[in-house]
Amino acid sequence: MAVKDLNKIFPKEDSLLTKPRPYVNHSVEFKHPYSVKKRMEVLEKSGMNVFNFPAEMITGVDFLSDSGTTTMTNKQWASLHLGDESYGSNKGYFQLKKQVQKIFGKEFFNDPNKQKPNAFIFHQGRSCENALFSIIGRLGTGLIIPSNGHFDTTEANIMANKIQALNLFSKQLKDPLSNYHFKGDMDVDKLKDLLKKSHKKIPMGFLTITNNTGGGQPVSMNNVQQVSALMHKYDLPLFFDACRFSENAWFIKKYDKNYRNKSIKEIVKKMFTYVDGFTISFKKDGLVNMGGGLFIKEDGYFQKKYPQIADQIINLQILTEGHPTYGGMSGRDIMALVEGLKTVVELQYLDYRINQVKTFCKSLVDKGIPVLTPPGGHAVYLDMNKFFEDTDKKPGDFGGIAFTALLLGLYGHRACELGNFAFGTYNSKTKKETFPEVNFVRFAIPRLRYEQQDLEAAAESIKVLYDYRKQIPSVKAIYGKELSLRHFKAKFKFK
Ligand code: F0G
Repeated sequence: MAVKDLNKIFPKEDSLLTKPRPYVNHSVEFKHPYSVKKRMEVLEKSGMNVFNFPAEMITGVDFLSDSGTTTMTNKQWASLHLGDESYGSNKGYFQLKKQVQKIFGKEFFNDPNKQKPNAFIFHQGRSCENALFSIIGRLGTGLIIPSNGHFDTTEANIMANKIQALNLFSKQLKDPLSNYHFKGDMDVDKLKDLLKKSHKKIPMGFLTITNNTGGGQPVSMNNVQQVSALMHKYDLPLFFDACRFSENAWFIKKYDKNYRNKSIKEIVKKMFTYVDGFTISFKKDGLVNMGGGLFIKEDGYFQKKYPQIADQIINLQILTEGHPTYGGMSGRDIMALVEGLKTVVELQYLDYRINQVKTFCKSLVDKGIPVLTPPGGHAVYLDMNKFFEDTDKKPGDFGGIAFTALLLGLYGHRACELGNFAFGTYNSKTKKETFPEVNFVRFAIPRLRYEQQDLEAAAESIKVLYDYRKQIPSVKAIYGKELSLRHFKAKFKFK
């Protein structure tokens, strides 16, 4: 019998329910089997703040962040050896230029010998934000920067420069029954009103793709288009916070019928035609452990409106980071980034990556645990208001903090409260807490790092704590509740 005839008899590979991972383990690291007793002791000593808990002692999954925690590919590890650590114009800089141009568009990385530089490398995302907003902050007083959802460091950098950071979350994000696939959109009606009333106070707008603070939800191409048109109508520039640009593009391919037959690379290119620049932490969709960038579109609204800003950024970069051709990155990290940017836009990679998040989410939904659905591309968010709905927990009892502490101490998995404590504030004068619109615990999944078994073990542990939710004690902050960015610094005790 001919081989091709056999192919007709048996079910096709694609029809099987379980797909193998699109990669194999290149090297592994064994964990030390720390006991529950030891973990609990250390947790108490670290003030029950999960950021202060030694990563080495995490016996389960470290969901604290998907940032800088990527397992690199063998090509990335190999590329480290090709790093050029020259103080000026290292080899990797030119490769990065080519790769950025290829992915985002030529207009985002000028040839510094021919045009004014418009591409700036920094050591991570927040240093780009610091540079940009410290310069924007000098443009006037009472300024407002609207977004679909500013990330916490973005918001903090904006506020540090006396600018208001305004989140215009979509209506669907707040509707638990909505099955809309792009809950990360900006509320366009609110933006319209804001522009009508206050456009003179708005130096620029931001769209975070995907919307990390807004449940990690993707933003639709339609929304990008509408927000861009509105901003441009008032001659105002729009930027992406582009940390998870390729994950966002995957959702557009999957759920927008106009883009079903387009490649990820085509969708990314199209998305970036609508913006005038972007900041990015390459620690996410750069697949590297360190790196960031600030890119201003040649001839875009930003460059035309603020022609002086590029020079100011270079000055700041030289003062605080390094020569513009390496910014804050080492030559070897730049090489790994060039390689990471090639992988991150591959459909095979993205399919696996985002389906892993989806499978974890489904496992939690099947166990009856209240999560934000449909999930975004990098994390699953537990809705803590619903989690504790039938208990006597009040918002000021910070159930999310207690839950993350117990999950870490008892079962060895580290998640992060991004809700009533992280985004709430305490007013020392009135002695009152104010709480945010959303109250999540986030399970961010590092790229290429964990297997299904790890995630299922975490889901089972979460279920146990859900079953015992009435026994989860309340916590009080014994240090730092009045501080800014308090979740990084505070210490807690069970009541
Ligand atoms: N913007 C977004 C949307 C982010 O998610 C982050 C980081 C940053 C900016 C800042 O980048 O860390 O390189 O300075 N997010 C990480 C997280 C820390 O866990 O979500 P950075």
